[in-house]
Amino acid sequence: MNTVVAIDGPAASGKSTVARGVAQALKSIYVDSGSFYRGVTWWVLRAGIPAGDRAAVIRGLAGLRFEKYLSEQAVRYRVDGEDPGTAIRGEAVAERVSEIAAMPEVRNQVNRWLRETRELGPIVMEGRDIGSVVFPDTPYKFYLDADPAERARRRHAESIAREEGRDVAQVLESLRRRDTRDSGRAEAPLKVAPGAQVIDTTHRAIDEVIQAIVTQVVSWTASR
Ligand code: CDP
Repeated sequence: MNTVVAIDGPAASGKSTVARGVAQALKSIYVDSGSFYRGVTWWVLRAGIPAGDRAAVIRGLAGLRFEKYLSEQAVRYRVDGEDPGTAIRGEAVAERVSEIAAMPEVRNQVNRWLRETRELGPIVMEGRDIGSVVFPDTPYKFYLDADPAERARRRHAESIAREEGRDVAQVLESLRRRDTRDSGRAEAPLKVAPGAQVIDTTHRAIDEVIQAIVTQVVSWTASR
């Protein structure tokens, strides 16, 4: 069975950069589970389905074609034949994604797609519930966290927030709203999975965090 390294944590905690780096170092495939929820949300908005209309979202999901493929050691996808590109990173999707991701039917479907990626090879998957729900049996679980102000600064430094003309305070507000919804939902809320190693990235360089995780995975593997 291919190994899974689970990296969970709140928005802009450094998960994406760290997970990519860990995947590269371990010659594994990188999977961004949040991008799957964002892809579904993008499709819902574009189809004109009100994000709050659960029945309509579920009906739409049943007919959705979600095709995964491997590109440069990362899993990518097309939704009904289309690659949404950077549209999934914009504020329109960010504002609705937690609502869509809170629906159990959406989570069940996305979890099936996520679990299938393990057939492609060893994976490093980042998200909110990878160590707790998607792959609870993996021994390799990490939870990254950082101060909200630092997370807002990092997210703002990414070009999309600036292109959309948002300032750091607005980005912080948006992150807080999403954190509250993600932590408070009934289904698979954001929390530290039992057995996960917690790493605070507020004052740590990304490379240092990558190295710490890789060292830990290698030593756990050697001792198994
Ligand atoms: O990159 P960022 O941390 O801002 O978020 P993301 O990983 O792209 O995830 C976007 C949203 O998808 C989150 O706010 C959650 O609502 C949802 N999500 C989830 O519910 N479960 C996951 N495993 C990953 C994301």
